[in-house]
Amino acid sequence: MKNRKIRVIFRPEKKEILTSIKSSLKEVIKRAGIKINFPCGGKGICGKCKVKVKGKLSPLTSAEKKHLQPVEKDVRLACQAVVEGNIEVEVYPLSLISFPKILTNRINREIKIKPLIKKTYLSLPPPSLKDQIADLSRLEKYLKERGIRYPFADLDLVKKLPRVMREADFKLTAVLKKQRLLTVEKGDTRGKNFGVAFDVGTTTVVGTLIDLDTGEELATRALLNPQASFGEDVVSRIDFLQSHLEGLKILQKRIIGAINRIIQMLSRVGEVKRENIYLATFVGNTVMQHLLLGVNPTNLALYPYVPVLKRSMELKASDLGIRINPQGSLYFFPNIAAFVGGDTVAVILATSLFDDNSQKVRLAIDIGTNGEIVLAKGKKLVCASTAAGPAFEGARISQGMRAERGAIEKVKLEEGKVEIGVIGGGRARGICGSGLIDASSQLLKEEIIDSSGWLKPSSKAKEKWSSRITKKNNHNGFLLVEREKAQDRIPIVLTQKDIRELQLAKGAICSGIKILLTRLEVEKGEVDEVLLAGAFGSYINPESAHLIGLIPNFPKAKVRSVGNAASLGAIMALVSEEDCKQAEKISEGVDYVELASFPEFPDILTQAMRFGKQD
Ligand code: FES
Repeated sequence: MKNRKIRVIFRPEKKEILTSIKSSLKEVIKRAGIKINFPCGGKGICGKCKVKVKGKLSPLTSAEKKHLQPVEKDVRLACQAVVEGNIEVEVYPLSLISFPKILTNRINREIKIKPLIKKTYLSLPPPSLKDQIADLSRLEKYLKERGIRYPFADLDLVKKLPRVMREADFKLTAVLKKQRLLTVEKGDTRGKNFGVAFDVGTTTVVGTLIDLDTGEELATRALLNPQASFGEDVVSRIDFLQSHLEGLKILQKRIIGAINRIIQMLSRVGEVKRENIYLATFVGNTVMQHLLLGVNPTNLALYPYVPVLKRSMELKASDLGIRINPQGSLYFFPNIAAFVGGDTVAVILATSLFDDNSQKVRLAIDIGTNGEIVLAKGKKLVCASTAAGPAFEGARISQGMRAERGAIEKVKLEEGKVEIGVIGGGRARGICGSGLIDASSQLLKEEIIDSSGWLKPSSKAKEKWSSRITKKNNHNGFLLVEREKAQDRIPIVLTQKDIRELQLAKGAICSGIKILLTRLEVEKGEVDEVLLAGAFGSYINPESAHLIGLIPNFPKAKVRSVGNAASLGAIMALVSEEDCKQAEKISEGVDYVELASFPEFPDILTQAMRFGKQD
């Protein structure tokens, strides 16, 4: 009986696979190559992996009973159900992984080009009986004549040197990274000197191809981080590697695979050979950087939250299997603390927060899956990390989703009508972070929610919005999109629970800012500028953010978006030796503040969770 094969048919693709009885539906879906999102890593917490199934499955688990509504006939959570007979599966579009909106815009700033990789063309005299200098010494002698002294060369290079020299008739180009001879190439290859800068995010990976001699940007490409199928946030990925013997290897392999695919795309689009890419820089949060290096980050998630690596790392491309020139060099940004990584160092670098000689007070906020905050007062910098991201990325919101096609990103309530903006146009599938902030600010303005976050409309609001005030899963809710206008005819409702999740997230950011202000003894009136980094900072409506009190009220501060500042920082380190050194100084010079160690933190958080402008 155990060996009986079960037929699983996926609709609408009509894909069919055979499996054994008692297989987990999640594993069957993965085997079929159907890209479903498992945001909580399959723990039954998020309720986002919904599929419609006809046929025999195991009984509903308690997690399913919690997340599924009685009206959702035949709907199951893919991570919970076990196959017990032939079944037909229909995947909900909201459960599918789709490509998020990738942020490629960056601030314009001048970068002093001083590449770490330099090429020197040499026409060497061939050896003779009167000139029997060893091959490597011959190369070194003529490099020395050009003022390049004592280059270090590794064994792989020494092994290939005699062949390259002779095949090139002793006319060759030496590729150097400071004192290290990276490789030698036949003929004159000057002018073909490229690098790639990577921003390795928890959700997306963005790579940029750069001409190292000119600093010109040749192409940018991005992919979803394939580790996401093991959990949407860093903690779920750590859980995965703890519970699977080969977990760390699997996660590392996935991310390196994605990076190599991006390099392949960049080299094709930029018409650049991969052998001519000699340098790659990487910025990411501390966990991502550990996973990319294959270093176990488990202790980051355990008290007292200690990373293995804080310092930067330099490796040879072939050591990690990154497919640029195998002799090329990889530079991993230094981190600041367990949850403030190389990506924050890169944001600080790109926005010149660290080297600002003026006495300006500036605040940078980067809200991704995690929220990092940096406050600079002249040369003094403090930073903190807040667990703010999940709600802003759509996780833990009943119909939340990332900022991708079909997500509501804008909401306006006017004259009894709800106007929405949907990414990519078309019908709405769910709501993303910027939509959530807009919607809440509008509900607040219309007195549908009060400042404590209660979805308890005033009598005026009840009259005006009676047709929209509804219930879902026993929670009060506000109907954003009616059934007829929504994709798959699933109405989109913002519930009381969703609003509570948003309050927690915005409270975390706001209280983090307040504590950093206290730490540097800065009054709100002294803050000159607020910089919003990352995708979220680019897409939110600053007015809505202010209305709900995501950031405190800074009377004289200018608020501006700085786009993908982390990517810009990675590019700067790629083309400028100075900026690379600066990244090292930032890592050492910024003080990390552990918010939970502040006795006042719970009170500040409670206050910061209230809606309305924060003083
Ligand atoms: S409930 Fe299935 S992945 Fe979260």
